[in-house]
Amino acid sequence: MRGSQSTLAERLRFKLHRAELKATAMGLKLMPLRESRLHEGLDATHSLAREIGHYGVNKVLIVTTAGVVKRQQLDTLIAALAQNQVGFAIYSGITPDPSVSVVKEGLQAQQQHQCDAVVAFGGGSAIDASKAIVVAATNDKPVEKLVGIRKGRNKPLPLFCVPTTAGTGSEVTSVAVISDDVTHTKRFIIDSRTIAKGVALDPALSQSLPPSITAETGMDALTHAIEAYLSQLASPQTDALALEAIELIFTHLPEVYRNGGNLESRAAMARASLIAGKAFRKAMLGYVHAISHQLGACYGLPHGFANAILLPRIVAFSQDAVQDKLAQLAIETGLGEASLGRSDLAGLTLDRLERLNTELGIPDNVESLKEQDIPSIASAAYKEALSVHAGPKYMGRKDIQALLRGLLPQ
Ligand SMILES: [Fe+2]
Repeated sequence: MRGSQSTLAERLRFKLHRAELKATAMGLKLMPLRESRLHEGLDATHSLAREIGHYGVNKVLIVTTAGVVKRQQLDTLIAALAQNQVGFAIYSGITPDPSVSVVKEGLQAQQQHQCDAVVAFGGGSAIDASKAIVVAATNDKPVEKLVGIRKGRNKPLPLFCVPTTAGTGSEVTSVAVISDDVTHTKRFIIDSRTIAKGVALDPALSQSLPPSITAETGMDALTHAIEAYLSQLASPQTDALALEAIELIFTHLPEVYRNGGNLESRAAMARASLIAGKAFRKAMLGYVHAISHQLGACYGLPHGFANAILLPRIVAFSQDAVQDKLAQLAIETGLGEASLGRSDLAGLTLDRLERLNTELGIPDNVESLKEQDIPSIASAAYKEALSVHAGPKYMGRKDIQALLRGLLPQ
């Protein structure tokens, strides 16, 4: 059996974590989460602008990157907002892994232009920063003090999202991941009131993404779906969402990687990302994210890229704890027949994950990883896993270290 390296103190901590998760599960059950209004297809941006107009919004702050502005990707949104008598201002300072100071700049723009709603236009970074901005806008607290669960007393400004990548699912989740300016460690601002009121999924917006970004973001969505499916907090409801997302991604991610202009597959990926977000906002995530966040902080590895490398290894580590679910996944996604043995079926799921990485050109090690960093990365991942995640099989620090050593460059 894998993973017997945890210490007695760690095993006691795991026991406590199981009890904490039971309480979390009760809380999540009682907490109704907003169902975002969904606008899909090539007319999605117009349809979203109409919705914003119906809310009586006076002026939105569009939060995006300089690249989006340069590529003139905002033109449709701006025209649609004008048609609906909604004013706008633009904050285009979003960077990958947005930091507290990026959020503060966006907040300044919101205050300066007196915007009464925010439209996040971009990938996970634009959406996460926007979530932090909408909370900070209505609460007289420094951004740093909003880290944690529902730290803002007042209702955030309304948020609308136009995702341009298919991966994060952040538009429908309660969590904004913000980086510390100095240490680059991830901070979580968690507030279910930041779930987008409306989301536009226009497949045309992602068709020009380069294959590497398509692969990385798509693998982030797949990781959300699989970690939600294998989570200790999974339920029949979240399983149905996760399996739907996994099947869509298995079918359409290799296609959009090879042929970015396939709008049908781009639309399927956008949908899969959102559905995976709906699965993990209730079921939470696991060790892939706990470790990936540290690799991102330490070496600047893109989030989805780190997830993709880790996913098959963490699933393999957890296999004995979740064999039946992995077998069910193989049946539900057409990888194998129910007549096969559970262990064979679970093996087929693992094979599919490994094969997918190969198809997408994802390596099986981390080029920048250094042996001397492994203990501190493992400790930080261990801590994160037991604070905001619900992975199915606990890993002690030594287990995480051993897994990381397997990722060292050859
Ligand atoms: Fe993620």
